[in-house]
Amino acid sequence: MSLHEQLALVLAPYRGEKGATIPALQAVQKALGYLPEEAISETAKSLCLSENEIYGVATFYAHFRFEKEGEHMVRICSGTACHVRGSPRIVETLEEKLGIHSGETTKDHKFSLERIACFGSCALAPVMVVDKTIYGRMTTTKARQILDEYQDTK
Ligand code: FES
Repeated sequence: MSLHEQLALVLAPYRGEKGATIPALQAVQKALGYLPEEAISETAKSLCLSENEIYGVATFYAHFRFEKEGEHMVRICSGTACHVRGSPRIVETLEEKLGIHSGETTKDHKFSLERIACFGSCALAPVMVVDKTIYGRMTTTKARQILDEYQDTK
């Protein structure tokens, strides 16, 4: 199925619904994993809105992505417990190591980096999650080593 056909299918329930920008974008992102340019233009056409209006909404909410996720999703908790125990330094270290900012994906599509809100493992703060594996009591050194392992073997 082409991207165009896939978008037509996903957007069909929202056709002409000007107030449905967020659910329509959520449905597209769920189907494709991100919002490519064609998704913005097709959503605009379906909802009878301008691309700027769609883009404005999509950029306002941090959970919409404009590039494909990397092979490994690295998430650093920035909830209070993790923050006070050093998560900002871990984010900085990984941004430097990967050469990207939080919210971006490396050029080789190996890693995406994101900050997340507290997900209830505060006793393990600061916490890093790679794909579905939780790593607790993180340090900058440990975080670098873990990423090296994913780079080499997984
Ligand atoms: S603050 Fe990080 S898991 Fe709760």
